Amino acid sequence: MQVSVKTGTALDAKTDLLVLVHLEKDTPPLPPAFDDAFAQAKKVGDLPQSLRASCLLYPSEAAPAKRLLLVCAGRSSEVDAESLRRIGAIAQKRADDLGCADFVLALSQRVSEACALELACQALAEGAGLAAYRYIAPSKDKAKPAKLKRASLMAIEGKLPAACSKAAKTGMLRAEATCFARELGNKAGNLMTPSILASESKKLANNRVKVTVFDEARMKKEKMNALLGVSRGSREPAKLIFFDYDPFKGKASKGRTIAIVGKGLTFDAGGISLKPSAGMDEMRYDMCGGAAVVGLFHALASGALSPKLRVVGAVPASENLLDGDAQKPGDIVTACDGTTIEVLNTDAEGRLILCDALAYVTKTYKPAKMVDLATLTGAVVMALGHEMSGIMGDDEVCKELLEAGESSGDRCWQLPLWDVHKDMMKSKFADLRNINSGKADGAGSTSGGAFLSNFVGDTPWAHIDIAGAAWGAKAKDYYEFGATGVGVRLLLDWLANQ
Ligand code: BES
Ligand code: MN
Ligand code: ZN
Repeated sequence: MQVSVKTGTALDAKTDLLVLVHLEKDTPPLPPAFDDAFAQAKKVGDLPQSLRASCLLYPSEAAPAKRLLLVCAGRSSEVDAESLRRIGAIAQKRADDLGCADFVLALSQRVSEACALELACQALAEGAGLAAYRYIAPSKDKAKPAKLKRASLMAIEGKLPAACSKAAKTGMLRAEATCFARELGNKAGNLMTPSILASESKKLANNRVKVTVFDEARMKKEKMNALLGVSRGSREPAKLIFFDYDPFKGKASKGRTIAIVGKGLTFDAGGISLKPSAGMDEMRYDMCGGAAVVGLFHALASGALSPKLRVVGAVPASENLLDGDAQKPGDIVTACDGTTIEVLNTDAEGRLILCDALAYVTKTYKPAKMVDLATLTGAVVMALGHEMSGIMGDDEVCKELLEAGESSGDRCWQLPLWDVHKDMMKSKFADLRNINSGKADGAGSTSGGAFLSNFVGDTPWAHIDIAGAAWGAKAKDYYEFGATGVGVRLLLDWLANQ
Protein backbone atom coordinates (compact mmCIF):
# COMPACT_ATOMS: atom_id res chain seq x y z
CA MET A 1 0.00 0.00 0.00
CA GLN A 2 1.21 3.50 -0.82
CA VAL A 3 0.64 6.36 1.62
CA SER A 4 1.21 9.90 0.42
CA VAL A 5 0.45 13.42 1.61
CA LYS A 6 -2.07 15.39 -0.43
CA THR A 7 -2.70 19.09 -0.39
CA GLY A 8 -6.03 20.71 -1.24
CA THR A 9 -9.17 20.55 0.86
CA ALA A 10 -10.11 17.24 2.38
CA LEU A 11 -13.79 18.14 2.19
CA ASP A 12 -13.68 17.98 -1.63
CA ALA A 13 -11.56 14.82 -1.80
CA LYS A 14 -12.78 12.27 -4.30
CA THR A 15 -12.30 8.97 -2.53
CA ASP A 16 -13.90 5.65 -1.60
CA LEU A 17 -13.57 6.57 2.08
CA LEU A 18 -12.92 9.91 3.74
CA VAL A 19 -11.67 9.46 7.32
CA LEU A 20 -11.95 12.51 9.55
CA VAL A 21 -9.88 12.30 12.72
CA HIS A 22 -11.04 14.60 15.50
CA LEU A 23 -10.77 15.03 19.27
CA GLU A 24 -13.47 14.42 21.86
CA LYS A 25 -16.17 17.13 21.73
CA ASP A 26 -14.57 18.55 18.61
CA THR A 27 -16.94 18.48 15.66
CA PRO A 28 -14.88 18.84 12.50
CA PRO A 29 -16.33 20.54 9.43
CA LEU A 30 -17.98 17.97 7.14
CA PRO A 31 -18.72 17.79 3.43
CA PRO A 32 -22.32 19.14 3.23
CA ALA A 33 -23.65 15.91 1.69
CA PHE A 34 -23.04 14.19 5.04
CA ASP A 35 -24.86 16.77 7.20
CA ASP A 36 -28.10 14.78 7.37
CA ALA A 37 -26.39 11.52 8.25
CA PHE A 38 -24.33 13.34 10.87
CA ALA A 39 -27.46 14.83 12.44
CA GLN A 40 -29.06 11.38 12.57
CA ALA A 41 -26.00 9.83 14.20
CA LYS A 42 -25.88 12.66 16.72
CA LYS A 43 -29.56 12.24 17.55
CA VAL A 44 -29.15 8.57 18.44
CA GLY A 45 -25.90 9.24 20.31
CA ASP A 46 -23.60 7.41 17.89
CA LEU A 47 -20.93 10.07 17.44
CA PRO A 48 -17.52 8.73 18.48
CA GLN A 49 -16.47 10.30 21.79
CA SER A 50 -13.45 8.34 22.95
CA LEU A 51 -10.10 7.23 21.58
CA ARG A 52 -10.48 4.73 18.70
CA ALA A 53 -14.28 5.01 18.54
CA SER A 54 -15.66 5.49 15.03
CA CYS A 55 -18.88 5.97 13.08
CA LEU A 56 -19.53 5.40 9.37
CA LEU A 57 -21.80 7.79 7.46
CA TYR A 58 -23.21 7.77 3.93
CA PRO A 59 -24.03 10.91 1.89
CA SER A 60 -27.64 11.93 1.29
CA GLU A 61 -26.81 13.35 -2.15
CA ALA A 62 -24.03 12.97 -4.74
CA ALA A 63 -20.66 13.71 -3.12
CA PRO A 64 -16.97 13.30 -4.03
CA ALA A 65 -16.49 10.94 -1.05
CA LYS A 66 -18.53 7.73 -1.18
CA ARG A 67 -18.41 7.26 2.59
CA LEU A 68 -17.27 9.16 5.65
CA LEU A 69 -15.69 7.61 8.72
CA LEU A 70 -15.44 9.74 11.84
CA VAL A 71 -12.66 8.52 14.12
CA CYS A 72 -12.02 9.94 17.56
CA ALA A 73 -8.43 10.56 18.68
CA GLY A 74 -9.56 11.00 22.30
CA ARG A 75 -8.46 13.94 24.42
CA SER A 76 -5.64 16.12 23.17
CA SER A 77 -3.33 14.60 25.81
CA GLU A 78 -3.97 11.16 24.28
CA VAL A 79 -2.65 12.14 20.85
CA ASP A 80 0.78 10.53 20.53
CA ALA A 81 2.70 8.27 18.14
CA GLU A 82 1.05 5.11 19.48
CA SER A 83 -2.54 6.38 19.32
CA LEU A 84 -1.94 7.75 15.82
CA ARG A 85 -0.42 4.44 14.67
CA ARG A 86 -3.63 2.81 15.87
CA ILE A 87 -5.80 5.36 14.09
CA GLY A 88 -3.87 4.85 10.84
CA ALA A 89 -4.47 1.13 11.29
CA ILE A 90 -8.20 1.56 12.08
CA ALA A 91 -8.65 3.57 8.87
CA GLN A 92 -6.72 1.01 6.83
CA LYS A 93 -8.69 -1.94 8.16
CA ARG A 94 -12.07 -0.27 7.74
CA ALA A 95 -11.23 0.73 4.15
CA ASP A 96 -10.06 -2.80 3.47
CA ASP A 97 -13.20 -4.39 5.01
CA LEU A 98 -15.39 -2.10 2.92
CA GLY A 99 -13.56 -3.10 -0.26
CA CYS A 100 -12.27 0.42 -0.93
CA ALA A 101 -9.47 1.02 -3.43
CA ASP A 102 -8.26 4.08 -1.52
CA PHE A 103 -8.91 6.24 1.51
CA VAL A 104 -8.13 9.81 2.52
CA LEU A 105 -7.33 10.40 6.17
CA ALA A 106 -7.64 14.01 7.33
CA LEU A 107 -6.81 15.55 10.70
CA SER A 108 -8.93 18.23 12.31
CA GLN A 109 -7.30 21.50 13.29
CA ARG A 110 -7.37 20.55 16.97
CA VAL A 111 -5.71 17.18 16.35
CA SER A 112 -3.00 18.97 14.34
CA GLU A 113 -2.38 21.26 17.28
CA ALA A 114 -2.03 18.35 19.69
CA CYS A 115 1.06 16.80 18.07
CA ALA A 116 4.13 17.43 15.94
CA LEU A 117 2.75 17.03 12.42
CA GLU A 118 5.73 15.27 10.89
CA LEU A 119 5.75 12.62 13.59
CA ALA A 120 1.98 12.32 13.25
CA CYS A 121 2.28 11.63 9.52
CA GLN A 122 4.99 9.09 10.13
CA ALA A 123 2.88 7.33 12.78
CA LEU A 124 -0.33 7.35 10.69
CA ALA A 125 1.46 5.92 7.65
CA GLU A 126 3.30 3.41 9.81
CA GLY A 127 0.08 2.23 11.44
CA ALA A 128 -1.68 1.88 8.10
CA GLY A 129 1.28 0.03 6.59
CA LEU A 130 1.55 -2.34 9.56
CA ALA A 131 -2.19 -3.06 9.50
CA ALA A 132 -2.01 -3.89 5.79
CA TYR A 133 0.16 -6.94 6.51
CA ARG A 134 -1.34 -10.38 6.35
CA TYR A 135 0.43 -13.70 6.27
CA ILE A 136 -0.62 -15.50 3.12
CA ALA A 137 -0.56 -19.17 4.03
CA PRO A 138 0.62 -21.59 1.37
CA SER A 139 -2.57 -22.91 -0.23
CA LYS A 140 -3.97 -24.66 -3.27
CA ASP A 141 -6.19 -21.61 -3.69
CA LYS A 142 -4.71 -18.44 -5.09
CA ALA A 143 -4.71 -15.53 -2.66
CA LYS A 144 -6.90 -12.60 -3.69
CA PRO A 145 -4.80 -9.47 -4.25
CA ALA A 146 -5.64 -6.64 -1.85
CA LYS A 147 -8.02 -4.11 -3.39
CA LEU A 148 -6.80 -1.27 -1.22
CA LYS A 149 -3.83 0.32 -2.95
CA ARG A 150 -3.55 3.95 -1.89
CA ALA A 151 -3.99 6.15 1.15
CA SER A 152 -3.52 9.89 1.43
CA LEU A 153 -3.02 12.10 4.47
CA MET A 154 -4.45 15.61 4.64
CA ALA A 155 -5.51 18.35 7.02
CA ILE A 156 -9.27 19.00 7.11
CA GLU A 157 -8.64 22.73 7.26
CA GLY A 158 -5.52 24.22 5.62
CA LYS A 159 -2.76 21.88 4.56
CA LEU A 160 0.03 19.80 6.01
CA PRO A 161 3.59 21.24 5.93
CA ALA A 162 5.84 20.07 3.08
CA ALA A 163 8.08 17.95 5.35
CA CYS A 164 5.08 15.71 6.04
CA SER A 165 5.46 13.95 2.69
CA LYS A 166 8.87 12.67 3.64
CA ALA A 167 7.62 11.67 7.09
CA ALA A 168 4.77 9.63 5.61
CA LYS A 169 7.21 7.92 3.27
CA THR A 170 9.45 7.12 6.24
CA GLY A 171 6.52 5.67 8.16
CA MET A 172 5.64 3.47 5.23
CA LEU A 173 9.21 2.21 4.82
CA ARG A 174 9.40 1.46 8.55
CA ALA A 175 6.18 -0.54 8.26
CA GLU A 176 7.44 -2.43 5.21
CA ALA A 177 10.65 -3.37 7.02
CA THR A 178 8.66 -4.54 10.05
CA CYS A 179 6.32 -6.59 7.86
CA PHE A 180 9.32 -8.14 6.14
CA ALA A 181 10.56 -9.26 9.57
CA ARG A 182 7.05 -10.60 10.39
CA GLU A 183 7.00 -12.56 7.16
CA LEU A 184 10.35 -14.22 7.90
CA GLY A 185 9.14 -15.03 11.41
CA ASN A 186 5.83 -16.53 10.35
CA LYS A 187 7.35 -19.03 7.94
CA ALA A 188 7.35 -22.61 9.23
CA GLY A 189 10.69 -24.18 10.11
CA ASN A 190 10.95 -26.08 6.83
CA LEU A 191 10.15 -22.93 4.85
CA MET A 192 12.65 -20.72 6.66
CA THR A 193 15.93 -22.58 7.09
CA PRO A 194 19.30 -20.91 7.70
CA SER A 195 20.01 -21.12 3.95
CA ILE A 196 16.69 -19.49 3.06
CA LEU A 197 17.22 -16.77 5.68
CA ALA A 198 20.65 -16.13 4.14
CA SER A 199 19.31 -15.95 0.59
CA GLU A 200 16.45 -13.62 1.65
CA SER A 201 19.09 -11.44 3.35
CA LYS A 202 21.30 -11.34 0.26
CA LYS A 203 18.37 -10.01 -1.78
CA LEU A 204 18.49 -6.81 0.31
CA ALA A 205 22.00 -5.88 -0.83
CA ASN A 206 22.21 -2.56 -2.68
CA ASN A 207 24.42 0.53 -2.81
CA ARG A 208 23.60 1.30 0.83
CA VAL A 209 23.89 -2.15 2.40
CA LYS A 210 26.40 -4.95 1.83
CA VAL A 211 25.51 -8.54 2.74
CA THR A 212 27.98 -11.39 3.19
CA VAL A 213 27.45 -14.93 4.47
CA PHE A 214 29.85 -17.29 6.22
CA ASP A 215 29.30 -20.98 5.49
CA GLU A 216 30.31 -23.74 7.91
CA ALA A 217 33.78 -24.10 6.36
CA ARG A 218 34.45 -20.42 7.09
CA MET A 219 33.05 -20.79 10.62
CA LYS A 220 35.43 -23.70 11.17
CA LYS A 221 38.32 -21.54 10.02
CA GLU A 222 37.24 -18.83 12.46
CA LYS A 223 36.98 -21.50 15.23
CA MET A 224 33.31 -20.77 15.90
CA ASN A 225 32.77 -24.07 17.62
CA ALA A 226 29.96 -22.95 19.92
CA LEU A 227 27.83 -22.06 16.88
CA LEU A 228 28.95 -25.18 15.01
CA GLY A 229 28.21 -27.33 18.05
CA VAL A 230 24.52 -26.34 17.92
CA SER A 231 24.38 -26.99 14.18
CA ARG A 232 25.89 -30.50 14.54
CA GLY A 233 22.51 -32.08 15.23
CA SER A 234 21.01 -30.75 12.02
CA ARG A 235 21.40 -31.56 8.33
CA GLU A 236 20.71 -27.97 7.34
CA PRO A 237 24.03 -26.12 7.28
CA ALA A 238 24.39 -23.13 9.62
CA LYS A 239 24.94 -19.67 8.16
CA LEU A 240 26.36 -16.53 9.68
CA ILE A 241 24.90 -13.52 7.88
CA PHE A 242 26.57 -10.09 7.98
CA PHE A 243 25.14 -6.73 7.01
CA ASP A 244 27.19 -3.58 6.60
CA TYR A 245 25.72 -0.09 6.21
CA ASP A 246 28.74 2.19 5.86
CA PRO A 247 28.09 5.81 4.83
CA PHE A 248 31.85 6.46 5.24
CA LYS A 249 32.60 3.81 2.58
CA GLY A 250 35.44 2.30 4.56
CA LYS A 251 37.00 5.65 5.54
CA ALA A 252 37.15 7.21 8.98
CA SER A 253 34.23 5.45 10.64
CA LYS A 254 36.32 5.22 13.83
CA GLY A 255 34.20 5.45 16.94
CA ARG A 256 31.08 5.63 14.83
CA THR A 257 30.31 1.94 14.40
CA ILE A 258 27.25 0.36 15.97
CA ALA A 259 26.73 -3.40 15.90
CA ILE A 260 23.46 -5.32 16.11
CA VAL A 261 23.37 -9.09 16.51
CA GLY A 262 20.22 -11.24 16.28
CA LYS A 263 19.50 -14.88 17.12
CA GLY A 264 18.48 -16.66 13.93
CA LEU A 265 17.55 -20.09 15.26
CA THR A 266 15.16 -21.20 12.52
CA PHE A 267 13.72 -24.10 14.54
CA ASP A 268 14.42 -25.01 18.16
CA ALA A 269 13.50 -28.56 19.15
CA GLY A 270 15.85 -28.25 22.13
CA GLY A 271 18.42 -30.72 20.83
CA ILE A 272 19.17 -33.77 23.01
CA SER A 273 17.63 -31.77 25.89
CA LEU A 274 14.41 -32.16 23.91
CA LYS A 275 11.49 -29.78 24.42
CA PRO A 276 7.98 -31.12 25.15
CA SER A 277 5.84 -31.64 22.01
CA ALA A 278 3.00 -29.27 22.93
CA GLY A 279 3.50 -25.93 21.24
CA MET A 280 6.87 -26.92 19.81
CA ASP A 281 5.78 -25.55 16.42
CA GLU A 282 6.05 -22.09 17.98
CA MET A 283 9.79 -22.50 17.92
CA ARG A 284 9.60 -21.37 14.27
CA TYR A 285 9.72 -17.93 15.87
CA ASP A 286 13.12 -18.59 17.41
CA MET A 287 14.75 -16.60 14.60
CA CYS A 288 12.83 -13.40 15.34
CA GLY A 289 15.89 -11.66 16.79
CA GLY A 290 17.63 -12.37 13.49
CA ALA A 291 14.52 -11.23 11.62
CA ALA A 292 14.66 -7.90 13.50
CA VAL A 293 18.23 -7.41 12.28
CA VAL A 294 17.26 -8.33 8.70
CA GLY A 295 14.29 -5.95 8.99
CA LEU A 296 16.54 -3.17 10.27
CA PHE A 297 18.79 -3.52 7.22
CA HIS A 298 15.72 -3.70 4.97
CA ALA A 299 14.91 -0.24 6.36
CA LEU A 300 18.48 1.05 5.98
CA ALA A 301 18.64 -0.32 2.42
CA SER A 302 15.39 1.49 1.56
CA GLY A 303 16.50 4.83 2.99
CA ALA A 304 13.95 4.87 5.83
CA LEU A 305 16.86 6.17 7.90
CA SER A 306 20.29 7.38 6.77
CA PRO A 307 22.33 7.68 9.96
CA LYS A 308 25.84 9.11 9.86
CA LEU A 309 27.07 5.94 11.50
CA ARG A 310 28.44 2.66 10.31
CA VAL A 311 25.91 -0.02 11.27
CA VAL A 312 27.02 -3.64 11.22
CA GLY A 313 24.58 -6.52 11.64
CA ALA A 314 25.24 -10.19 12.32
CA VAL A 315 22.75 -13.07 12.34
CA PRO A 316 23.96 -16.51 13.36
CA ALA A 317 21.44 -18.91 11.82
CA SER A 318 21.06 -22.57 12.69
CA GLU A 319 18.55 -25.26 13.57
CA ASN A 320 18.64 -26.99 16.98
CA LEU A 321 17.65 -30.62 16.38
CA LEU A 322 18.58 -34.14 17.47
CA ASP A 323 20.88 -36.57 15.72
CA GLY A 324 23.42 -39.27 16.46
CA ASP A 325 25.98 -36.56 15.88
CA ALA A 326 24.26 -33.90 18.00
CA GLN A 327 26.08 -32.35 20.95
CA LYS A 328 25.21 -33.80 24.35
CA PRO A 329 24.71 -32.38 27.82
CA GLY A 330 28.13 -32.06 29.39
CA ASP A 331 29.99 -31.60 26.10
CA ILE A 332 32.70 -28.96 26.11
CA VAL A 333 32.98 -26.57 23.16
CA THR A 334 35.40 -23.73 22.50
CA ALA A 335 34.12 -20.39 21.16
CA CYS A 336 36.11 -18.37 18.60
CA ASP A 337 37.72 -16.22 21.30
CA GLY A 338 39.06 -19.33 23.10
CA THR A 339 36.44 -19.39 25.87
CA THR A 340 35.55 -22.97 26.81
CA ILE A 341 31.90 -23.75 27.48
CA GLU A 342 30.26 -26.67 29.23
CA VAL A 343 26.99 -27.34 27.38
CA LEU A 344 24.87 -28.52 30.30
CA ASN A 345 21.61 -28.05 28.45
CA THR A 346 21.48 -28.25 24.66
CA ASP A 347 18.23 -26.25 24.75
CA ALA A 348 20.13 -23.17 25.94
CA GLU A 349 21.45 -22.92 22.38
CA GLY A 350 20.68 -19.28 21.60
CA ARG A 351 23.53 -18.05 23.77
CA LEU A 352 25.85 -20.58 22.09
CA ILE A 353 25.24 -19.32 18.58
CA LEU A 354 25.24 -15.70 19.75
CA CYS A 355 28.49 -15.86 21.69
CA ASP A 356 30.56 -16.65 18.59
CA ALA A 357 28.84 -13.87 16.66
CA LEU A 358 29.30 -11.34 19.49
CA ALA A 359 32.98 -12.23 19.98
CA TYR A 360 33.69 -12.09 16.26
CA VAL A 361 31.91 -8.75 15.78
CA THR A 362 33.65 -7.26 18.85
CA LYS A 363 37.07 -8.29 17.56
CA THR A 364 36.49 -7.44 13.89
CA TYR A 365 34.56 -4.15 14.02
CA LYS A 366 35.38 -2.77 17.49
CA PRO A 367 31.92 -1.20 17.74
CA ALA A 368 31.30 1.84 19.95
CA LYS A 369 28.05 0.21 21.09
CA MET A 370 26.47 -3.17 20.55
CA VAL A 371 22.96 -4.60 20.99
CA ASP A 372 21.71 -8.13 20.58
CA LEU A 373 18.14 -9.34 20.21
CA ALA A 374 17.11 -12.90 20.92
CA THR A 375 14.15 -15.09 21.79
CA LEU A 376 16.44 -16.37 24.52
CA THR A 377 14.40 -17.52 27.49
CA GLY A 378 10.96 -18.77 28.41
CA ALA A 379 11.64 -17.06 31.74
CA VAL A 380 11.23 -13.60 30.23
CA VAL A 381 7.70 -14.56 29.11
CA MET A 382 6.94 -15.60 32.71
CA ALA A 383 8.37 -12.38 34.11
CA LEU A 384 7.15 -9.78 31.59
CA GLY A 385 4.56 -11.39 29.30
CA HIS A 386 4.15 -10.59 25.61
CA GLU A 387 3.76 -6.81 25.66
CA MET A 388 7.39 -5.87 26.25
CA SER A 389 10.97 -7.07 25.89
CA GLY A 390 13.41 -7.56 28.75
CA ILE A 391 16.64 -5.59 28.44
CA MET A 392 19.84 -5.80 30.45
CA GLY A 393 23.48 -4.80 30.24
CA ASP A 394 25.10 -1.36 30.10
CA ASP A 395 22.86 1.10 31.96
CA GLU A 396 23.37 3.92 29.46
CA VAL A 397 22.50 1.75 26.46
CA CYS A 398 19.50 0.33 28.34
CA LYS A 399 18.29 3.84 29.09
CA GLU A 400 18.47 4.74 25.41
CA LEU A 401 16.60 1.57 24.48
CA LEU A 402 13.89 2.25 27.07
CA GLU A 403 13.31 5.63 25.39
CA ALA A 404 13.32 4.16 21.90
CA GLY A 405 10.85 1.57 23.18
CA GLU A 406 8.40 4.27 24.25
CA SER A 407 8.61 6.21 20.98
CA SER A 408 8.44 3.17 18.71
CA GLY A 409 5.85 1.20 20.67
CA ASP A 410 8.30 -1.74 21.01
CA ARG A 411 8.36 -1.26 24.76
CA CYS A 412 11.15 -2.55 26.98
CA TRP A 413 11.70 -3.18 30.68
CA GLN A 414 15.10 -3.40 32.31
CA LEU A 415 16.20 -6.47 34.26
CA PRO A 416 19.33 -6.63 36.45
CA LEU A 417 22.62 -8.11 35.31
CA TRP A 418 24.98 -8.19 38.29
CA ASP A 419 28.28 -9.83 39.08
CA VAL A 420 26.49 -12.46 41.20
CA HIS A 421 24.67 -13.53 38.06
CA LYS A 422 27.91 -13.73 36.09
CA ASP A 423 29.44 -15.90 38.84
CA MET A 424 26.59 -18.39 38.45
CA MET A 425 27.73 -19.09 34.89
CA LYS A 426 31.22 -20.31 35.90
CA SER A 427 31.93 -24.01 35.38
CA LYS A 428 34.23 -26.51 37.10
CA PHE A 429 34.78 -28.29 33.77
CA ALA A 430 35.28 -25.22 31.53
CA ASP A 431 35.40 -21.41 31.69
CA LEU A 432 31.62 -21.13 31.49
CA ARG A 433 28.50 -23.26 31.72
CA ASN A 434 25.60 -22.45 29.41
CA ILE A 435 22.96 -22.57 32.17
CA ASN A 436 23.03 -21.70 35.83
CA SER A 437 21.81 -24.30 38.29
CA GLY A 438 18.22 -23.73 37.25
CA LYS A 439 15.62 -23.65 40.05
CA ALA A 440 18.25 -23.17 42.74
CA ASP A 441 19.59 -19.99 41.11
CA GLY A 442 16.48 -18.70 39.33
CA ALA A 443 17.01 -15.50 37.32
CA GLY A 444 16.54 -17.41 34.06
CA SER A 445 16.58 -14.44 31.70
CA THR A 446 19.39 -12.66 33.45
CA SER A 447 21.52 -15.81 33.33
CA GLY A 448 21.32 -15.71 29.52
CA GLY A 449 22.52 -12.11 29.53
CA ALA A 450 25.20 -12.97 32.09
CA PHE A 451 26.54 -15.68 29.81
CA LEU A 452 26.62 -13.35 26.77
CA SER A 453 28.35 -10.58 28.73
CA ASN A 454 31.55 -12.64 28.57
CA PHE A 455 31.82 -12.13 24.81
CA VAL A 456 31.52 -8.37 24.34
CA GLY A 457 34.82 -7.22 25.89
CA ASP A 458 34.32 -3.71 27.26
CA THR A 459 31.89 -2.67 24.53
CA PRO A 460 28.87 -0.81 25.95
CA TRP A 461 26.32 -3.51 25.17
CA ALA A 462 22.73 -4.43 25.89
CA HIS A 463 20.89 -7.71 25.44
CA ILE A 464 17.20 -7.62 24.47
CA ASP A 465 15.26 -10.78 25.28
CA ILE A 466 12.30 -10.71 22.88
CA ALA A 467 10.99 -14.22 23.66
CA GLY A 468 7.68 -12.73 24.84
CA ALA A 469 7.36 -9.81 22.45
CA ALA A 470 8.28 -11.67 19.24
CA TRP A 471 4.81 -13.19 18.93
CA GLY A 472 1.58 -13.66 20.88
CA ALA A 473 1.03 -10.03 21.89
CA LYS A 474 -2.53 -8.71 22.28
CA ALA A 475 -4.01 -7.60 18.96
CA LYS A 476 -3.68 -3.81 18.72
CA ASP A 477 -5.14 -2.55 15.41
CA TYR A 478 -1.77 -2.68 13.63
CA TYR A 479 -0.93 -6.21 14.81
CA GLU A 480 -3.19 -9.23 14.41
CA PHE A 481 -1.41 -12.52 15.20
CA GLY A 482 1.85 -14.37 14.55
CA ALA A 483 5.22 -12.64 14.45
CA THR A 484 5.08 -9.02 15.63
CA GLY A 485 8.21 -7.79 13.84
CA VAL A 486 9.38 -6.45 17.21
CA GLY A 487 12.76 -4.74 17.26
CA VAL A 488 12.85 -3.19 13.80
CA ARG A 489 11.26 0.14 14.73
CA LEU A 490 12.89 0.01 18.19
CA LEU A 491 16.34 -0.18 16.58
CA LEU A 492 15.48 2.52 14.03
CA ASP A 493 14.46 4.93 16.79
CA TRP A 494 17.53 4.02 18.82
CA LEU A 495 19.86 4.58 15.85
CA ALA A 496 18.15 7.87 14.98
CA ASN A 497 19.25 9.19 18.38
CA GLN A 498 22.89 8.06 18.23
N1 BES B 1 14.12 -20.49 22.22
C1 BES B 1 14.09 -20.83 23.58
C2 BES B 1 13.45 -19.76 24.45
C3 BES B 1 11.96 -19.62 24.36
C4 BES B 1 11.13 -20.44 25.09
C5 BES B 1 11.42 -18.62 23.62
C6 BES B 1 9.77 -20.27 25.05
C7 BES B 1 10.06 -18.43 23.57
C8 BES B 1 9.23 -19.26 24.29
C9 BES B 1 15.50 -21.03 24.11
O1 BES B 1 16.40 -21.56 23.20
C10 BES B 1 15.41 -21.99 25.24
O2 BES B 1 15.06 -23.11 25.00
N2 BES B 1 15.70 -21.53 26.45
C11 BES B 1 15.63 -22.33 27.60
C12 BES B 1 16.81 -22.00 28.46
C13 BES B 1 17.00 -22.94 29.62
C14 BES B 1 17.37 -24.30 29.13
C15 BES B 1 18.07 -22.37 30.50
C16 BES B 1 14.32 -22.04 28.33
O3 BES B 1 13.91 -20.88 28.38
O4 BES B 1 13.70 -22.98 28.80
MN1 MN C 1 16.33 -23.68 23.16
ZN1 ZN D 1 16.00 -21.21 21.22
